[in-house]
Amino acid sequence: MNVLVIGNGGREHALVWKIRKSPLVKEIYCARGNAGTAEIAINVDIPPEDIIGLKNFAIANKIDLTVVGPELPLSLGLADEFLKNGLLIVGPIQGAAEIESSKVFSKLVMREAGIPTADFEIFDDADKAEKYIMGVNRPLVVKADGLAQGKGVFPCLNKGEAIAAVNAIMRERLFGQAGNRIVIEEFLEGEEVSFMGITDGEIFIPFATSQDHKRAYDNDEGPNTGGMGAFSPARILGSEEQQRVISEIISPLLKKMSEKGRPYRGFLYAGLMVKDGRPYVLEFNARLGDPETQPLMLRMKSDIVPMLVGAAQGNLKAQEISWDERFSVCVVMTAQGYPGSYRKGMEILGLEQFRDSEDIVIFHAGTLKDCERIITNGGRVLGVTGIDVSPRNAIEKVYSAISKIHFDGSFYRRDIGKKVLLK
Ligand code: AMP
Ligand code: GLY
Repeated sequence: MNVLVIGNGGREHALVWKIRKSPLVKEIYCARGNAGTAEIAINVDIPPEDIIGLKNFAIANKIDLTVVGPELPLSLGLADEFLKNGLLIVGPIQGAAEIESSKVFSKLVMREAGIPTADFEIFDDADKAEKYIMGVNRPLVVKADGLAQGKGVFPCLNKGEAIAAVNAIMRERLFGQAGNRIVIEEFLEGEEVSFMGITDGEIFIPFATSQDHKRAYDNDEGPNTGGMGAFSPARILGSEEQQRVISEIISPLLKKMSEKGRPYRGFLYAGLMVKDGRPYVLEFNARLGDPETQPLMLRMKSDIVPMLVGAAQGNLKAQEISWDERFSVCVVMTAQGYPGSYRKGMEILGLEQFRDSEDIVIFHAGTLKDCERIITNGGRVLGVTGIDVSPRNAIEKVYSAISKIHFDGSFYRRDIGKKVLLK
């Protein structure tokens, strides 16, 4: 079969890499892809928001299955357009993708379905939000309702910070329309874990657990980013807790979405805060995590393609995925300045050393092939991903690989996975 993967990050390179291993697949296309996907698939120059362009491409090239990486095209109705044309696609329809594209919708669904999450209030008026903040004496988190590239969430330790966040979102309009409404919620303490899986709306197949590192600098300091590194498994969520996440969070969500006439199909990501052994939902995403997908794909032993087809067709077979028991870790190398402004176009050296390696895979994110050179083309540039018997070995292996890769101004956190070693 012919497969189209949409997106151009490390997550999409990892998906293409995994799909490539399936004997069921003939041709893989990636729109738009990067220098990494170009080596194992055919890159297609159609941007993710060009819904009609992607649909026309899928029809013209006899694509049997489309797999969507990022949330933007889903929030614009890509899956709806594909389904209307009888094309198989992994990813929710627009109304279901709202669990990510509207925090207000997501919180209301959680409340209706009784899903454990931080207590919250919703505001569409800055004055009322400020009045509410003045009456509350605990840390709060202020969130823009709409998509804001991961920048619309403000954890606030005091009233001054919370009011500044309301001003930024609702008065200064930092995120435009995405700030028409806000959610103000209770600040939860605990440890974060990413819980993902794939669903056809009824059957949910869980993936292994993973943990992201969202802050830019070591010791979880600095600004939030898309993710600076990830590992799998995340041992804070044992198998009993995972079963509870499915029965108390995932199943009620899927049921509620069906009841609302917005059946949810595709990948589903629950960002959880584990507090005193109990998981609370911080957010739902209508996609897989980046960079969590990179270590997950390295560990997944089962063929992913039958699951993708099952989810898209609505006849997913309940099954246990077989996982490599080893520990996998991904360290993201970024351009200097990320998540702020950064330069592009620096040549990347050293990649060829890992071409045939099985336990170190360099997933590309912001890279571009420029004649024979590979150059940087984004903030997150590479996800150096390794696997080994112990966390210590895997982490050492990845950092040793990183020391052999060079581009001007490269930056990375030096403490990815360290939490696991301290336990
Ligand atoms: P979100 O996009 O809603 O997941 O928020 C981004 C990040 O902000 C999360 O990964 C957490 O690190 C942090 N965060 C969000 N909501 C809360 C909360 N209620 N309490 C503490 N931290 C939070
Ligand atoms: N790594 C976090 C996310 O993909 O949302």
